[in-house]
Amino acid sequence: MKWTYIEDISNFKDKEVEIRGWVFNKRSSGKVRFLLIRDGTGLIQGTSFSSKTDDPLFKKFDTRTQESSLIVRGRVKEEKRAPGGFELTIKDVEILQVADEYPITPKAHSTPFLMEHRHLWLRSQKQHAILQIRTELIKAIRDFFDDRGFRLMDTPILTPSACEGTTTLFETDYFDQKAFLSQSGQLYNEATAMAFGKVYCFGPTFRAEKSKTRKHLIEFWMVEPEVAFATLEDITELGEDLVVYIMERILEQNKKELEVLERDTKPLERIKKPFPRLTYDEAQKMLKKKGSKMEWGDDFGAPEEALISEIFDLPVSITHFPAKIKAFYMQPDEKRPELALGVDVLASEGYGEIIGGGQRIHDLDLLEKKIKEFKLPREDYEWYLDLRKYGSVPHSGFGLGIERMLAWICKIKHIRETIPFPRLLNKIYP
Ligand code: 4AD
Ligand code: MG
Repeated sequence: MKWTYIEDISNFKDKEVEIRGWVFNKRSSGKVRFLLIRDGTGLIQGTSFSSKTDDPLFKKFDTRTQESSLIVRGRVKEEKRAPGGFELTIKDVEILQVADEYPITPKAHSTPFLMEHRHLWLRSQKQHAILQIRTELIKAIRDFFDDRGFRLMDTPILTPSACEGTTTLFETDYFDQKAFLSQSGQLYNEATAMAFGKVYCFGPTFRAEKSKTRKHLIEFWMVEPEVAFATLEDITELGEDLVVYIMERILEQNKKELEVLERDTKPLERIKKPFPRLTYDEAQKMLKKKGSKMEWGDDFGAPEEALISEIFDLPVSITHFPAKIKAFYMQPDEKRPELALGVDVLASEGYGEIIGGGQRIHDLDLLEKKIKEFKLPREDYEWYLDLRKYGSVPHSGFGLGIERMLAWICKIKHIRETIPFPRLLNKIYP
């Protein structure tokens, strides 16, 4: 008998198959036993009939607890009313392990309890749906860049210097030197972009975020494109195209999962270009009118981001920020050097910043000045300065946070459910 995954079951109508999985649920009524089996790719109901209540197969059924592992053999039967359209008429059951009493039951559990049991919580339908969308999201992003001729360049995780400010650095020993876990692959990407034209890196990034929010993870995944000769305008366009592409793919590929999550997909179906674009100045004035206390020079907080999504039902690209709230490497505006040529894309529905990026300083003298101004140790950035000595060109890039994007797609409140094992403030178990 052929071992088959539940997601492929439609190819085996009226054939005998073997399913290897776990007991999701079971029920009995008189001469029938029902077994809901999950195998990671889907759910299927198996049925077994017998006129004898002491049937040995029934006995096996009755000892089986939730999450017991087993191999089930039987015939695939079309059943329009069944969730996947098919059922299994069980011929034989082989138990691998009878599970202890399973701690996660259909009743409601507290979030701390579920987080303590994250290793098991992953098996629940909603968590499964979220992470299923995550795998498609990552595939979509890779396809987007690969199809446009971008080269994937892996940037290092252990680094000697900071990219996004020194307050969120994770420090570690590197033999007799200090090293930091990467906050962003950007600086290295700027080097690979000068070697390959257009590149992207896609990896884990780390920030010792000291505040507890629904949007910050300590360890998160970021995709970062970097393009030689691209301007702020070019990179804003690329970021918006990426968001539209992702939405189309997920809506097409993950209907089942979005249904499990009871996600209203209309707001996502609306996401087409052009996105509204505002300069920081315009956004700040608009927010002020709506009652925000944000002064010119302040960064957007969660309430400001929420206000913006009340005004627009599309993602919004904001550009031209006060330089002092942005990183050292940002190219100043030619006419108003107090502004940085940065772009943030804010998601709709109150999900806030999903993309951060912009144009980089390409002038050597200016970059040297900024490194001094930000009190960064110059010797750690010599190689980065070299990029401005040997064929410097204007260039731009951005970073998209996978978990922020996924939280928005799934419309879940907290970012902790968007990664199999979230690292949170003061919390590293399991
Ligand atoms: O705006 P950020 O800090 O930009 C950079 O790191 C640039 N160096 C990227 C670049 O230009 N190559 O971060 C980019 C994105 C944010 O918009 C957000 O989506 C995500 O990364 N992000 C986080 N996601 C989860 N938890 C955190 N603590 C995050 N910090 C940033
Ligand atoms: Mg940012």
